Amino acid sequence: MPTITSRNPADRSDLVTEVEGADFAAFTATCRTARGAQPAWAVVPAPLRGRVIAQVGRLVEANKDSLAALVTREIGKPYAEALGEVQEIVDTCDFFLGEGRRLYGQTVPSEMSDKQLFTFRTPVGVAAVITAANFPAAVPSWYIVPALLCGNAVVWKPSESAPAVAVALAELFWHGGVPRDVLQVVHADGPAAFDGLSAALDDGLIDKIGFTGSTAVGRRIGELAGRHLQSACLELGGKNPLVVAADADVDLAVEGALFSGFGSAGQRCTSLGTAFVHTSLYDEFVQKLDAAVAAASVGDPTKDVLYGPLINESYLTNFAKWLDMVQAHHTVLGSTGTGRITAANPREGFVGDPEPGLYVHPTVVAGIRADDALYAQETFGPLVGVGAWDTFDEAIDLANGHGYGLSAAIYTKDATTAFRFRERCSAGMISINNSTSGAEAHLPFGGNGLSGNGSRQSGMWVLEQFTRWQSMNWDYAGTLQKAQMDNMGILTDLAPDPTFRL
Ligand code: UN1
Repeated sequence: MPTITSRNPADRSDLVTEVEGADFAAFTATCRTARGAQPAWAVVPAPLRGRVIAQVGRLVEANKDSLAALVTREIGKPYAEALGEVQEIVDTCDFFLGEGRRLYGQTVPSEMSDKQLFTFRTPVGVAAVITAANFPAAVPSWYIVPALLCGNAVVWKPSESAPAVAVALAELFWHGGVPRDVLQVVHADGPAAFDGLSAALDDGLIDKIGFTGSTAVGRRIGELAGRHLQSACLELGGKNPLVVAADADVDLAVEGALFSGFGSAGQRCTSLGTAFVHTSLYDEFVQKLDAAVAAASVGDPTKDVLYGPLINESYLTNFAKWLDMVQAHHTVLGSTGTGRITAANPREGFVGDPEPGLYVHPTVVAGIRADDALYAQETFGPLVGVGAWDTFDEAIDLANGHGYGLSAAIYTKDATTAFRFRERCSAGMISINNSTSGAEAHLPFGGNGLSGNGSRQSGMWVLEQFTRWQSMNWDYAGTLQKAQMDNMGILTDLAPDPTFRL
């Protein structure tokens, strides 16, 4: 079996952990164990499963600092943001502990006398959850917490870049009271996980897939699920636009662009892709964003910085590809260099020593047009485009035209502009006078188009992913009553006079 190794991206000599990777057969065996454990978990009454989720939430809260420190060490997220990430798990547990006492079904009137209809939410069974490195704790909890609350077993395949965080989070679930067989962690690389998933689906061991990651892999997972008559919950990429209207508060918009474009080194799926600015404010916005980015602190993620290193070498390799997409009509701004930050290619004001880490210069690319490669390409990393527009129709076309639809923001003081933007923008999450990131744990989260298949996580909306509706009818007439046929006589006495006129 291959060993999966994770190293601190701020210091590649710091080995965080080594774990044994599963091959596809081990993956399938894990799913079989989960399948065996799920029925006993499903009969634990939902309010008591909610209590277990409450226990997990309290334990995560009590371990907030150490889990956040591990997130920082393993994937390089600045400590303040890592604390926010752990808080998102606590918030998710807080929401779902109460859902254990709801999980409402309905009583529904029947068209027959002496008959009653009901609906029930039933667990789907075993959920396979595959997550990315950029939110190695919070985003997995968006799947795992509601899946468990609803009575499912979970097989979690975390990112190969964050195995230590995965083990730590799983320990918190287990020590919070979740049975080990009900939540299982299986470390695997992409091909082994895909083959394992495929084999487990063939064997009828998985009932739901939750996947957060790239659009390309999401397509393959969606196809695989479709072949097994399942719909996966897909949370994919984004090219999230931030539109600045002519009446916007430019300083507020720049602040939002700085945080959403460069916070977490631009490695959120909600990170800002391109700011589209009304021509009347374009020069001012570009100049102010350039100044803000140039002044931002970059470096050691344990310190007070806007962002730290990229997650691993593959993100660094990709970042170089995005820089190659810069064209002659663009203006590159934001730092004292481009590409990797080293002693030979320094960033003014860098916090700490860049040499042992995977740091890159923040990059603003001004002059983005709709036919540029950088307009449509998701650039996971600290690179933000800026483009201009004249009419609102142009702004909408630019905001939607790349085909992603995860998150979009507009800065305006006009309510009509804000509501028109919401109506016409294809993103699943719209922000008014706020940046493209900052989803809260109790609102629906998910995308359209290249960003997902319309599935939604978080809040009550995610219950649709982890339960199926079951209806029940109960006839107490004592004779066979045939729906649509036997009770229509009642309407004879209630017949309308269709010729009546006032
Ligand atoms: C993600 O990047 O997959 O809104 C999720 C935000 C975070 C969640 C991002 N609360 O940026």
